[in-house]
Amino acid sequence: MTRVLVIDDEPVVRALMAEILTRAGYDVVDADSAGRALELLDDGELALVISDVVMPGLSGFELLDEVRTRRPSLPVLLVTGSGTQDNLAEALSHGAAGLVMKPFTHAELRERVASVLSRASRGEREVRERVIAPALTSALASAVTARDIATGGHSERLVELSLRLAIEFDLAPGDLDAIRLGASLHDIGKIGIPDSVLLKPGPLDRDERALMESHTLIGDRLLEPVPELAAARPIVRSHHERWDGQGYPDSLIAEAIPLGARIVAVADALEAMSAQRPYRFPLDRDVIVAELEAGGGSQWDPGVVTAALALVDRGVICFGADGVGIVIG
Ligand SMILES: [Fe+2]
Repeated sequence: MTRVLVIDDEPVVRALMAEILTRAGYDVVDADSAGRALELLDDGELALVISDVVMPGLSGFELLDEVRTRRPSLPVLLVTGSGTQDNLAEALSHGAAGLVMKPFTHAELRERVASVLSRASRGEREVRERVIAPALTSALASAVTARDIATGGHSERLVELSLRLAIEFDLAPGDLDAIRLGASLHDIGKIGIPDSVLLKPGPLDRDERALMESHTLIGDRLLEPVPELAAARPIVRSHHERWDGQGYPDSLIAEAIPLGARIVAVADALEAMSAQRPYRFPLDRDVIVAELEAGGGSQWDPGVVTAALALVDRGVICFGADGVGIVIG
């Protein structure tokens, strides 16, 4: 139940607001002064503060300033009897989430509270999506790169290539974000692979290969408790699946493989073939094109391969001495 703190020095008004909001399904806590309200601010369950402006002792504005300092993301709705534009402007300049004029109807109070709460949760979600997810992604991706220095720069190029390919499929913005996350984190499970296998210069034996292949499942499990990165999980888990069902870890066939994973698989191959590695030179453009053509419909989604080849043909994807690149424009 959403907890709301109601502050008003007038017992009748306080009781009225508490009753309206309790009936609307909120868990209401009340206080008869701003001073008393400050003692309740540390309650982590508190989702909204509704405060009278004019009160003996600390005013609603002073309370608002204190809330902004101590709980910056906690919204405050001010209630005032003198409803002038100046009051509204002052409330907003102090960082109030809104102003309710007295007298108010039951419906008005309910609507204002619901709208402030929904805006606050949208704001919180946006912060998670825009700030927390990219920060986590970059920290995690760096953790893989730091161990696997032989493929430095691979991750950035892979993200660019995957996004460029994804654009050819008319995906929604949310799907593109998922591909960006998934491409950045596709090999995050390598964190769980021992150095003796991850960095082994020669070919892997059967057990070592099985261990290496488990990076898909380790990655998926690693992201499971992080809701902000959930969109990346299908790519992390399925980027080594093959169109013909011979891939791992689930032997998915054709369109049962998430599209993001099919895109990242082609981008991964393109990047790997075109990159300089300690043990070999980059492959020539013609060899890469022939490899892609040969693997379309068996290793990779033929539609994604066609899209990639068309981009190579148009010069959008190009191959330089320092690996694959994308021509913007
Ligand atoms: Fe991988």
